[in-house]
Amino acid sequence: MPETTDLFEIIRTTRAMRRLKPDPVPDALIRKIIEAGVCAPNGGNTQRWRFLVIKDQAIKKKVQVWYKKAFDEVVGPRYLKSSPPPGVTKEAYVRQHAAVEYLTDHFHEAPAWIVACIEETAAPTRWSGASIYPAVQNMLLAARALGLGATLTTRHLLYEKEAEAALGLPPGVHSYAILPIGYPMGKFGPVGRGPLKEVVYEDQWGRPFLGGESS
Ligand SMILES: Cc1cc2nc3c(=O)[nH]c(=O)nc-3n(C[C@H](O)[C@H](O)[C@H](O)COP(=O)(O)O)c2cc1C
Repeated sequence: MPETTDLFEIIRTTRAMRRLKPDPVPDALIRKIIEAGVCAPNGGNTQRWRFLVIKDQAIKKKVQVWYKKAFDEVVGPRYLKSSPPPGVTKEAYVRQHAAVEYLTDHFHEAPAWIVACIEETAAPTRWSGASIYPAVQNMLLAARALGLGATLTTRHLLYEKEAEAALGLPPGVHSYAILPIGYPMGKFGPVGRGPLKEVVYEDQWGRPFLGGESS
């Protein structure tokens, strides 16, 4: 799978890659991904992030049971009732749903997981998330740059206690995302998003920002 160092190309093509080959991912690449993660901004530079790399199939399987239960009970039925988001065709949405279901069934088969955690000093707030998701995005981009597929997943949080117990997290540590990582079966391609003018305003809420548009 093509590697690239063009930052904007990497950003434009870092899609959720849910179908992964079982081939192992070298530790050197996992390290490189996490090194990119810890370059991210974090509140007060306190660096309370912790990353758990999981390769043990038995641990992954224990978590997958909860991940699948959450799909069967909540996410699957919700998908069936929802319509495609902006910038996504009906066909692409159906394909995405199939990929989501595939990852659900094969979650534990991804050769490596990176579980992004925070060692909490107080009850989690929006600031906690703000101090870990930049690292998560850096890791997704780094994986893409290395030709590795990954997906930001949080669904295990619907069964947070059970999943975190299966992960063996100590008291005071919480997980914010699980990134299943592996070599992708498919190709990287551009993400589908709606037009900027519908989500970016200038000076007044609702007035589209049209600056810089090529005519
Ligand atoms: C907060 C958050 C939670 C997510 N949780 C899951 C998840 O549990 N499982 C999954 O397959 N994808 C998950 N995703 C991935 C999104 O579904 C994906 O980014 C979105 O559909 C856009 O797809 P694309 O990035 O491939 O264009 C999550 C993304 C975010 C930002």
